[in-house]
Amino acid sequence: MKLPFVLAKKFVAGESFTDAKPKVEHLNDKKIKITLDLLGENVEDRETADATVQSYIDLINSIKEAQLESNISIKLTMLGLDIDRSYCKDNLFKLLEVTRENDQFVRIDMEGSDYTQVTIDLFKEAYKEFGKHVGIVIQAYLHRSKNDIHELAKIGADVRICKGAYSESKEIALQNMDAIREAYKEYTKILLEETPYPRIATHDDKLIEWVKAYTNENGIGKDRFEFQMLYGLRQETMETFVEDGYNARIYVPFGTMWFPYFKRRLMERKENIWFVISTMFQK
Ligand code: FDA
Repeated sequence: MKLPFVLAKKFVAGESFTDAKPKVEHLNDKKIKITLDLLGENVEDRETADATVQSYIDLINSIKEAQLESNISIKLTMLGLDIDRSYCKDNLFKLLEVTRENDQFVRIDMEGSDYTQVTIDLFKEAYKEFGKHVGIVIQAYLHRSKNDIHELAKIGADVRICKGAYSESKEIALQNMDAIREAYKEYTKILLEETPYPRIATHDDKLIEWVKAYTNENGIGKDRFEFQMLYGLRQETMETFVEDGYNARIYVPFGTMWFPYFKRRLMERKENIWFVISTMFQK
């Protein structure tokens, strides 16, 4: 059964680029940068993976044509990681060739812990070849991130730090929110000290206030990093960031395969569930 899109519209900008474009333009007008994400994950056949590579390439061309201030995020399982590693790498490199030609940027989102090692490995291979055109994500809740963050900082990688959105066991990931926040702070410090431009992705005021105070106290300029949030959440805060001289970027997902993303948003915050329930009763 396909659920009606109206349920997801708070978190997803539309089912097509055409639907998402005016929303991106509106945010760009407010000096907020964008990361567009064509939704989907865990592609199981080559035909779909090939079509996805083409859709990502089309997206890069559409962004250029529409002159949007936007880069893109991708998931390696959309490029065939579950089918074959080297096939996925070929797809990633094909996409990155076009990315480089267009002076664009692709961020590889981080998926569940089964994919962490291979995602980091493929990122490093891509980074050697494509440098500033590719970035990665680190999830503060994973125990292993302590090592990963040092390795990625050492090579000057472009890292988005987030808490982590998947359900992971205590053997693999921190479960307590305060502990996750402490890890997040530790890794953010490393990124701020050792990498050119960290991307700080959170809606959490405790972390946001800490980042503002830490950078201020340590003479780290507002132009040395950016705050990132998800589409549909705290837009007014993003506008305030811009007014206060911080860089702000909103991650804007779109596409027909919105259900898994939508479900993660509902699972992480009960207020999001209430919003969806209220949508159901709107005329
Ligand atoms: P969290 O949901 O933990 O909330 C903490 C506190 O923040 C709340 O108690 C409240 O005080 C405040 N808060 C949260 N939402 C609010 C709201 N709407 N209004 C007011 N206050 C609010 N994950 C992943 O595994 N891989 C990835 O690649 C990415 N990529 C990514 C990109 C971007 C741009 C973002 C913002 C996030 C991701 N994530 C992700 C998701 C991330 O891992 C995490 O699941 C969510 O951001 C939720 O954690 P937060 O720190 O944002 O707040």
